[in-house]
Amino acid sequence: VFANVVQAPEDPILGVTVAYNKDPSPAKLNLGVGAYRTEEGKPIVLNVVRKAEQLLVNDPSHLKEYLPILGLADFNKLTAKLILGADSPAVLENRIATAQCLSGTGSLRVGSEFLARHYHQHTIYIPQPTWGNHPKVFTSGGLNVKSYRYYDPTTRGLDLQGLLEDLNAADAGSVVLFHACAHNPTGVDPTPEQWEQIRQLVRSKGLLPFFDSAYQGFASGSLDEDAQSVRMFVADGGECFIAQSYAKNMGLYGERVGALSIVCKAADVASRVESQLKLVVRPMYSNPPIHGASIVAKVLKDKDLYDEWTAELKGMADRIISMRQQLFDALTARGTPGDWSHIIKQIGMFTFTGLNAEQVSFMRNEYHIYMTSDGRISMAGLSSRTVPHLADAIHAAVTR
Ligand code: LMR
Repeated sequence: VFANVVQAPEDPILGVTVAYNKDPSPAKLNLGVGAYRTEEGKPIVLNVVRKAEQLLVNDPSHLKEYLPILGLADFNKLTAKLILGADSPAVLENRIATAQCLSGTGSLRVGSEFLARHYHQHTIYIPQPTWGNHPKVFTSGGLNVKSYRYYDPTTRGLDLQGLLEDLNAADAGSVVLFHACAHNPTGVDPTPEQWEQIRQLVRSKGLLPFFDSAYQGFASGSLDEDAQSVRMFVADGGECFIAQSYAKNMGLYGERVGALSIVCKAADVASRVESQLKLVVRPMYSNPPIHGASIVAKVLKDKDLYDEWTAELKGMADRIISMRQQLFDALTARGTPGDWSHIIKQIGMFTFTGLNAEQVSFMRNEYHIYMTSDGRISMAGLSSRTVPHLADAIHAAVTR
């Protein structure tokens, strides 16, 4: 009965890893997926995560029972506090409905399904460009996807004018997706002053902001600084959706740990919203996994572990920043044509190089360097050892 099922294409991001794994070359380099690697090019489990896991293993009260439908209560409270700040009025007034979900993707999906059921406006505006999975998540979740201008390829910066025009023309009440920090794939974020302009427009048009926070701590190295955009939108008392992920900032990629928070205007509303979130989750996956959320809760609760985490996180962020400088210096040393200053100006895990699909495929075929076809490279996958190889490849690609 399935004989007519057609072969589906590989995922544009995760499919890069599939192709990389098949390449026998010892020189191969995977700069596709946004996953942190050490200077030695190896994946890493943070020391603080190992410690928290040890504590859990030795704790007889830590069981493998089902969690409640919306997850571990401590984890949910601490996660909302992490993004909003412990002194946020929304936290103090219990105006937040939080569901522990399957990392950022699961949080976005649960959020869309909730919106499709309970919100009058089913259109979501997403930035152009954005993470390749965003339109698929929202469409699958029952929303209609439209886009707003975000990136200007000529300046390799923010198209603020285009963004404001498009959001101004959006249907009243539309949902708008923002990347909280370290925009993926461009590495271009609005300044605080630009965020303020965006916030005023969003509120005056009655749009509903939905933040995707996948890189808190990774853009600047500071958890508080990377949460500023979200906090501005919560400080004005308005509603807001937030999807958080601990994949990158705690290195818990495969544990699938994250949360959806819906900031409401009053505690009783949040409590009813929470009751409805349960109805979204129960038929989808019943309740979330316990292990990753228990690790996060341990780290967030204990001051020593928390301090150790922030130091390790800063170490990762700083290594990425130094990779930017090294790549920029290597291209400058080679006299590679073009202006490469965007490599050091962009922030977060990725550089949006400006290389086109043909150059990307040349670098894959001739240099065994793997990246997404839009020219995005994961700086977190680079090391001092591999920078010269990448710089040679870019130089060759642009001087052909
Ligand atoms: C990425 O953009 O590389 C990451 O967010 C990983 C993913 O799931 O695509």
